[in-house]
Amino acid sequence: MAIKQVLLQNGIELYNGATSSLNCHGLGTCGTCAVQVEGAVSEPEWRERTRRSLPPHSLAQNRRLACQTKVLGDVKVTKFSGAWGQGNQIVWTSKS
Ligand code: FES
Repeated sequence: MAIKQVLLQNGIELYNGATSSLNCHGLGTCGTCAVQVEGAVSEPEWRERTRRSLPPHSLAQNRRLACQTKVLGDVKVTKFSGAWGQGNQIVWTSKS
C-alpha cells in the first residue's frame, strides 16, 4: 500500500493548503504529495524520479512522493511546508 493511502486512512492530511484538491490524485505527476520518509519503503521508480527531478523538487532533496512509495514495514513520515512539500519547515511528523 502506498504511503498516501496509509496516511489518508489514518485521517492525516497529506497535502498543504489548496493542493488538497489541486493534485493529480496519485498519478505521480504533480509532486504535491512529497514527504520525507525514514524506514522500509519501495525504491523510487521512473515516474517518481522524473517528477522529483523537476522544480521545485530536486533529486538531491531527501523527499519521496507519497502516492508512488509503498510501505514495506515501519515508517516515519514527515511533511514539510510549501505547496509541493518542498520547504524546510516541518508541518507534521508521524509514524505508521
Ligand atoms: S498526488 Fe500527485 S504526485 Fe503524488
